[in-house]
Amino acid sequence: MEVTVRIFRYDPEKDQRGHYENYTVEAHETDRVLDVLELVKGHKDGSLAFRRSCAHGVCGSDAMRINGRNALACKTLVRDVGTEIKIEPLLGLKVTKDLIVDMEPFFDNYKKMLPYLINESPLPVDGRERLQSPEQRARFDETTKCILCAACTTACPSFWASEEYYGPAALMAAHRFVFDSRDEGTTQRLEILSETNGTVRCHTAYNCTTACPRGIHITEAIGELKMAMVTGKLD
Ligand code: SF4
Ligand code: FES
Repeated sequence: MEVTVRIFRYDPEKDQRGHYENYTVEAHETDRVLDVLELVKGHKDGSLAFRRSCAHGVCGSDAMRINGRNALACKTLVRDVGTEIKIEPLLGLKVTKDLIVDMEPFFDNYKKMLPYLINESPLPVDGRERLQSPEQRARFDETTKCILCAACTTACPSFWASEEYYGPAALMAAHRFVFDSRDEGTTQRLEILSETNGTVRCHTAYNCTTACPRGIHITEAIGELKMAMVTGKLD
């Protein structure tokens, strides 16, 4: 079938501002939007720039706006978005070229959450790893699924209003460790989350939850963080 794609184009070496260009390619309804982009790049305009790596929904590098909604191009089928597809870069991050945005501010916020296990206590005397029950492991299972695609943060009106807001993806990184029974960095992380740009900026718009390609219940998880900050309880 014939598919027409309207793609945002911006080359900082040539363009004062972004514009849109249309391309028509032959594709199947079971092709992914990523396949369509590859067809455009391979057969219509080799200068088209977009990120991709795994092509299987694992690396998180090809989040973009497809017909106005944040999604992974490699997980979006043509039959689900139609034969006229508008493709644009994520909102709220500076466009570097075409569909590529500068992810540095996003990862800076992620790093602020201390996204690693903090535990200075000696290992158990038998030298084995720090054990956890299946229930304790299940407590943070959902937020381990984050692939750092930025679809949530760049769909969030609070982030659009203030790019200083750490954003839902960073909060998911905090959640993953705050609710890990082996971790001893909870006090530090909850202090970070209490800052002006922390959880207080979440107004439960639910855009993040809708945008997440991993199906993480982000707004609920942020609610759990807020509750932990108020009560000090982690159950
Ligand atoms: Fe992407 Fe979901 Fe992680 Fe947000 S929480 S960065 S939408 S995988
Ligand atoms: Fe890796 Fe789409 S290319 S998630």
